[in-house]
Amino acid sequence: DERDDRVVRMLMFGKPGAGKGTLTTRLAQKYDIVTLSTGDLLRQHIAEQTKIGRGAEGIVARGGLVPDEMMLEIVTSKLDGLQNKHWILDGFPRTLLQGEMLDTHLKKRNTPLTLVVNLDVPDEVILSRISDRWIHLPSGRVYNMSYNRPKVTGLDDETGEALTKRPDDNPETFARRLAAFYASTSPLLTYFSKSAASSVARRLNPNHQHPHQLSFHTPSGLKVKTLAGRTSDEIWPQLDRLLQNTFPGLRERLETTT
Ligand code: AP5
Repeated sequence: DERDDRVVRMLMFGKPGAGKGTLTTRLAQKYDIVTLSTGDLLRQHIAEQTKIGRGAEGIVARGGLVPDEMMLEIVTSKLDGLQNKHWILDGFPRTLLQGEMLDTHLKKRNTPLTLVVNLDVPDEVILSRISDRWIHLPSGRVYNMSYNRPKVTGLDDETGEALTKRPDDNPETFARRLAAFYASTSPLLTYFSKSAASSVARRLNPNHQHPHQLSFHTPSGLKVKTLAGRTSDEIWPQLDRLLQNTFPGLRERLETTT
């Protein structure tokens, strides 16, 4: 059956603190897109002290990466709930193995990724943001005392519940999260860029044999885009334009509902 490349099946990719959660939430609110954040899911498991939460707690607190098998257990059931919807993944995949597992899962359902957005924010900007960050644990909503303050200091805008600091938002742990990003997560960008390049090549020449097709599923119709900036004023308009241009259907939905 026909695959629909006009559906948002997107990864929000970037360093810890780059703004993935903030920008994903903004898009979701504007366009009614479903979002899945593995960081939020893990924090909820930890708060509820589930079996997964107890296993992940120490790793997250130290700024390491939770093992791939445990992540797969958390996301597979959630992924199935996304079928036929516009969706954004935030914080998953984070290793090459997770990327391959995701590709295989989506290929089986004929719903490959359509967009990868790489947020490129300088390290020093990120470090200064982290100490200002507060979160609403049950929803994953993110605030920042210098950028998007809550209406009432210390309280969530929608529920009025208390905001908390993340235990992994201190300079030492953050340095480890950044190191884990460079070591394990950044290679994924090359992986997706190759997939995107080979899908273009195949469209131009259907008989084109890309070496990566032997070992990787190459999601055709995939676009990979880097958005660079230091502030939301720089990144948000670029991101919004990218979504509207890549998925014209989204714009129509906005126009008909406003
Ligand atoms: P996760 O929660 O995913 O953390 P992260 O990737 O480190 O990302 P952050 O949540 O820190 O940052 P963000 O990019 O979402 O930025 P935010 O919008 O908050 O994961 C936590 C841990 O869980 C990991 O360390 C790991 O242990 C584990 N884990 C999760 N997924 C895993 C996986 N797949 N595999 C293995 N382990 C996994 O913004 C940051 C701050 O900047 C905020 O204060 C915000 O208000 C502010 N800000 C945001 N955007 C802007 C802007 N444009 N301008 C100005 N300020 C801004």
